[in-house]
Amino acid sequence: MIQIAPSILSADFSRLGDQVQMVEEAGAEVLHIDVMDGHFVPNLTFGPAIVKSLRNHSKMRFDVHLMVEEPEKFIVEFAKAGADHITFHLETSLHAHRLIQQIKEQGMTAGIALNPATPLDGVKYILQDLDMVLLMTVNPGFGGQNFIPNVLPKIQVLHRHLEQTQSSCLIQVDGGINLETAAMVAQAGAHILVAGAAVFAQADPQQAVKNIRKAAGLMKGE
Ligand code: DX5
Ligand code: ZN
Repeated sequence: MIQIAPSILSADFSRLGDQVQMVEEAGAEVLHIDVMDGHFVPNLTFGPAIVKSLRNHSKMRFDVHLMVEEPEKFIVEFAKAGADHITFHLETSLHAHRLIQQIKEQGMTAGIALNPATPLDGVKYILQDLDMVLLMTVNPGFGGQNFIPNVLPKIQVLHRHLEQTQSSCLIQVDGGINLETAAMVAQAGAHILVAGAAVFAQADPQQAVKNIRKAAGLMKGE
């Protein structure tokens, strides 16, 4: 079953609580929260305080996507704020295995993100410890960018490997997901689809969540 994860990066921040409730009512399972530090990516967003105040507005799984250098510094604070899951970038960590354990010790699930140019090799030997691999389908930093189709074979290869090893690790895709690309990534084997502009920049975000699920589900026979 495909899961839809609206990204609040494209939400109207002046009424963030309402926007989050809206997508939850539309059936989104996961709320994707993009944390940027102006160093790993050329943009700044939010920290644990936003997670803490949204926690009272939603029962969705809070999926924190850390696009920051030294991600190990922020794990405890996001756990305290109410995050359910943390994904960090492989490109930011020399000790990925240790960081996964730190995230789990805080009672959260753990994921690793790979930029479009980063090969799968770096996660191959730690897949059994991971709950999710996030394959970036744009260069991280901004919402509303165009999907990079070269990532499709990477999704396929990872999906095949997870099936062969009977792994329960999930594949998340993030960046440029719309009705057309949702169908493509679902067919390639993605399980969780992040969508920012394709949800919150639409006139009807609730219908947008449903349409993306339908477009993806059709490819999976759901
Ligand atoms: C980009 C972020 C994404 C972003 C996706 O660095 O990680 O989560 O919100 O936005 P769209 O879906 O608009 O490409
Ligand atoms: Zn993201």
